[in-house]
Parts: sequence; C-alpha cells; structure tokens
Amino acid sequence: MTDTDTGTGRHDDSAEAVGRLYDAFGEQCAERGTDADDDTDAGNFGFGDQLHFGYWESPQEELGLAEASLRLTDMVIERLAAGPGSRVLDLGCGIGGPALRLHARTGAAVEGVTLSRDQVDEARRAAGIAGADHAVRFRVADARRTPFEDASFDAVVALESIMHVRDRSEVVAEAARVLRPGGRLVLTDFFERGPILPEQRPALRMLLEGSMMSLSRAGDYPDLLRAAGMTFEEIRDISRHSTRRTFLEMARVQQRAAAESGGAADWPDPCAEMAAVDGFGYLLLTARRVDA
Ligand SMILES: C[S@@+](CC[C@H](N)C(=O)[O-])C[C@H]1O[C@@H](n2cnc3c(N)ncnc32)[C@H](O)[C@@H]1O
Repeated sequence: MTDTDTGTGRHDDSAEAVGRLYDAFGEQCAERGTDADDDTDAGNFGFGDQLHFGYWESPQEELGLAEASLRLTDMVIERLAAGPGSRVLDLGCGIGGPALRLHARTGAAVEGVTLSRDQVDEARRAAGIAGADHAVRFRVADARRTPFEDASFDAVVALESIMHVRDRSEVVAEAARVLRPGGRLVLTDFFERGPILPEQRPALRMLLEGSMMSLSRAGDYPDLLRAAGMTFEEIRDISRHSTRRTFLEMARVQQRAAAESGGAADWPDPCAEMAAVDGFGYLLLTARRVDA
C-alpha cells in the first residue's frame, strides 16, 4: 500500500485549510437546518453537537448516530479521570459538545481549541446557553502549539482530531508538554486496520482527501508516546462498534438530504461505499504522562 492509497502524509494539514474545512461544514449544516420532527436527522448530518463517530454495543442496537456519538464521548470522559477542580484541555473541540458534556458530568473546567473561527463562535454560544461559560472556554488555536503553560492541565482529550495532523507526534508532544505528571491523554484516531481492497481505494482516497486526513498505524503509537514521555494505559480497536454503522447512518442522512435537495451532493462523501471497508479502523487510546 502506498501513501496515496491511504492518504498518509499527503493531505494539506495547514491551520488555514483545516479551519476552512470546518467553517464550510458549519455553513452546510446551517443551510440544511434542523428538522425538529425527526431526531434521526437532526442538523449536523445526524451528529448532533458531538462531531465524531458513534459507539454501538452491537450491530443490531437501536440507537441513532447522535446518541451513539454521545456514548463515545462518555467513554472518553470516563477515561480522563477528571473531577471538580480538574482542568482539561480539549484539542480539536468542534462546536463544544464534548467539552460541555465533560463539564456537566465531572465539574471539570475545560479549555477547547479548534482551527475554525465559526466553531469557536458556536461553541461559545452553546456554553452561554448552558450557563457554563465561566468554566468552559473556547478559542482558535493549533493543537500542535497551544498558548498554554507547561504542566497546566490535569488531562487532555483529542476526540477525532489528530487524524487531520500529518505528523501526529506534534500533537502528542504538545499534550505531554501541557499535562501535569501523571495526567492522562485520551484520544480517538482512524487507523489502517487491515488490507484495503483495490476496488475500495477510490472511496477511501476520496474520503481522506475530502476531509483532509490520514490513517495512522496503531503500531506506531507506543514509540510515539514513549518519545513524548508518556506511557500506555489502554489501546482499544473499537472499529466493530463504530465505523460500519457510523458510515451507514451518515449515508442514510446524505441520501435523504440529496433527495430533498433534488440530488445535490452532500458532505462528507462517500459514506455508503466506506461502510464495507473493514480495513478502515477506529481506535480509542488512553495514555499517561510519566511522573517527573
Ligand atoms: C471531527 S471534528 C471533532 C470535533 C470534536 N472533538 C467532537 O468530537 O465533537 C475535528 C476537529 O478537530 C479540529 N482540528 C483539526 N486539526 C486541528 C489542529 N491542528 N488544531 C486544532 N484543532 C484541530 C477541527 O477544527 C475540528 O474541530
């Protein structure tokens, strides 16, 4: 498999490009609006305010994408071991759903960063509505070089954001820098789980290029963490609970949107084909900053 097949290391991961991608995604969501009568298709292409893949206990489980995404957020929150008095950094915070959930469930204060100006505006609005803007703050900043001091956070989360950064070691190193000794990093990432069949490669390439991301190799993480002064707590392949069903749910929303708009293409693409790509994996990783 070559770099071009998986998009590894070839996409534009500049702050400007990724910021524009998510500004554009927000605009599309706003244009589509929210169908309040149908909670399986509510705004944001079915994701709700958690802009990441879902987690289902079994393929048969009757749970919509928004609820399944919230469940994955809760699994991440459990692993952060945060509580009242904790300070948590959310690298790639989206429109603030996970940070607000984290604060509501644990009492932790949260700083969220994203490259999208529009997402910051939306996340701040959501924090105000939730009455949490004293404890949950958002700003535009790059996860590779945040403006925060060394060892100033008890935990760091990167929920489905690191796949946009070509050199993942830069994000892990930044997380390690801002974490206090013993503090946890919890992240999710897309990885190359197995062979991608030749006929599946065009769909994968379209997804990776269109979304400006690459697949990691799960086997790279031990060295990457060690180099940053971190140790493993857990790495889980959650693909069977997540990827196929998420793509199917997204394809359903896309198809409905296309039908409603007279066949216009929607973003992101091409979900229906990706549902069959077993080699596209999803991992949940917990690591700890080693004691000084
Ligand atoms: C798929 S969304 C996930 C958002 C959020 N974590 C959630 O689960 O709702 C990816 C997010 O990562 C952010 N992101 C990607 N690369 C980034 C970087 N280098 N620095 C900061 N944020 C980044 C994007 O702006 C976007 O908010």
